[in-house]
Amino acid sequence: MGGDVTIETEQLILREFRRDDREKVHEYAVDPEVYHHMPWGPNTEDETSAFIERAIASRHRDPRLHFELAVTLRETGHLIGGAGIRAADECFRTADMGYCLRRDAWGRGLATEAAGGLIGFGFRQLGAHRIWATCDTGNVRSAHVLEKVGMKLEGTMRDDTWLRGHWRSSRLYSILDDEWRPGGTRGLASSGEAPGQADSEEA
Ligand SMILES: CC(C)(COP(=O)(O)OP(=O)(O)OC[C@H]1O[C@@H](n2cnc3c(N)ncnc32)[C@H](O)[C@@H]1OP(=O)(O)O)[C@@H](O)C(=O)NCCC(=O)NCCS
Repeated sequence: MGGDVTIETEQLILREFRRDDREKVHEYAVDPEVYHHMPWGPNTEDETSAFIERAIASRHRDPRLHFELAVTLRETGHLIGGAGIRAADECFRTADMGYCLRRDAWGRGLATEAAGGLIGFGFRQLGAHRIWATCDTGNVRSAHVLEKVGMKLEGTMRDDTWLRGHWRSSRLYSILDDEWRPGGTRGLASSGEAPGQADSEEA
């Protein structure tokens, strides 16, 4: 898949990262409540720059396996987080996804929309059969999001991550292509094209 990727949902536009997003990304990358359940953070400025450079570089890989996108509000264009999906290999049949929003955007269903958009992109554009995600067992908000988008809990991976001085356990969720119902999940785009429809535009 060539060109820039855009995923549109009712309230969001997920678009490619740009270098001038660095400051906005850094704001949430140093927020302890945001990175608490994440495998990174608090970021140094260099780490945030490196994240953006990796996201930009992933666009040029052929075939492209990793789609790390900026989550922006459709109405204002403000960047409120990041969301990504990554195919396991060039067959594109399995992929994992994740998301992270700045704190003042929480609790409005926006992560659910972003996750729904990624899943739609994974099944429709990448042709995935299985999409999976993990969340820290203490991350109740994220577990809600994964359940709301129709993912099923497969189990708990005990002490799978050493993070900031502690072992963490993760819940593993997945959804298969024949379980995905376009428009059946709250918060997804409902106009015209199916929810999670990604428009692929040439750069
Ligand atoms: C996890 C995260 C993405 C959720 O974003 P969000 O936009 O608030 O998510 P949504 O509003 O779509 O859904 C959150 C759900 O959790 C529920 N929730 C909110 N606070 C909660 C709490 N303290 N305890 C339990 N559930 C809670 C909400 O009610 C909502 O469910 P509902 O729609 O059924 O009411 C956001 O908190 C975040 O970015 N956290 C930091 C990074 C992170 O943890 N990323 C995920 C890694 S796996």
